[in-house]
Amino acid sequence: MVCLGNICRSPIAEGVLRKLAHDAGKDWQIDSAGTNGLHVGEAPHRSSQKICKQHGIDICKQKAKRFTIKDFEQYDIIYALASDVYEDIAAIAKNDAQMTKVKLFLNELEEGSNASVPDPWYGGEEGYLPVYLLIEQTCKKIVAKHRA
Ligand code: 4NP
Repeated sequence: MVCLGNICRSPIAEGVLRKLAHDAGKDWQIDSAGTNGLHVGEAPHRSSQKICKQHGIDICKQKAKRFTIKDFEQYDIIYALASDVYEDIAAIAKNDAQMTKVKLFLNELEEGSNASVPDPWYGGEEGYLPVYLLIEQTCKKIVAKHRA
């Protein structure tokens, strides 16, 4: 799960997908990172922590990391939470094979929408619930897709 800072959106996506995958008996390795590296080492934003906690998910131990080229080797699927993040990842990729692993996260909710998860970093705390719900809805679809 990749966003810009790895402190608002992708930590929520990591926490939610990990919980849903665990509940569905899936042994997936799930992680998150950011493309801008501005918050490396920081815990998720307090409002991301709070909205997850209100939904029974503890993300306080996560630490922001920067997305690197090694992530293409380590993961089968790389979800960009927004189109600017997708472009950042494309700039890091060395070849087309690496980019075949990269998907826009919200295309799992609605194929071909090419939509981005809004960045709550630029607004108040009230922005975090709609972002949480959008991420949760999408993660539910991802897990359902792999249920078979
Ligand atoms: P995120 O939000 O990508 O959802 O973690 C942001 C957090 C920090 C910044 C940008 C986006 N920033 O530029 O510091």
